[in-house]
Amino acid sequence: MSDRELRVSKIRNGTVIDHVSGGQALNVLSILGIDGSAGLGVSVVMNVPSDRLGLKDVVKVEDRELSQSEVDVISLIAPEATINIIREFDVVEKNRVDRPETVIGLLSCPNRNCITNANEPVETKFDVVDEGVRCAYCGTIIREELATHIDPE
Ligand code: CTP
Ligand code: ZN
Repeated sequence: MSDRELRVSKIRNGTVIDHVSGGQALNVLSILGIDGSAGLGVSVVMNVPSDRLGLKDVVKVEDRELSQSEVDVISLIAPEATINIIREFDVVEKNRVDRPETVIGLLSCPNRNCITNANEPVETKFDVVDEGVRCAYCGTIIREELATHIDPE
């Protein structure tokens, strides 16, 4: 990529989430629990042209790797995303995301009467279904706005 096209710097260490569906970058940040307060270096590029996606977003997070649950939820809002692990400026690992069968933790159930909201030591568990994700305990389906159901731990 030429200097004229480069929008944000390469990072030294961390994770680049590339090929995020256009407009989803802020939801990716909320999945990662990043609101800027922890002082992590974060770069966000939104709605840049992409051959494959039309428009894409890119999120670069320095000095941070992602958990499997985070990658699982990202896959639901950005199915074409690639997760690049960067060490000393090199891409040392590049993975496409996979739509998971279940998502453990991270999401909270919107049903107030669900066992997962009863202060019991039960981790949330959602099955991924065509309509969205379905709570394995009470059957409530989250159909849209997945990112607004992120449990901030
Ligand atoms: N990147 C970065 N810092 C680095 C290395 C790479 O921010 N030190 C970013 C690049 O800008 C790109 C992504 O990580 O957005 C993947 O890098 P690379 O594999 O070099 O780019 P491409 O070959 O274009 O990736 P792909 O084939 O997945 O489109
Ligand atoms: Zn539930």
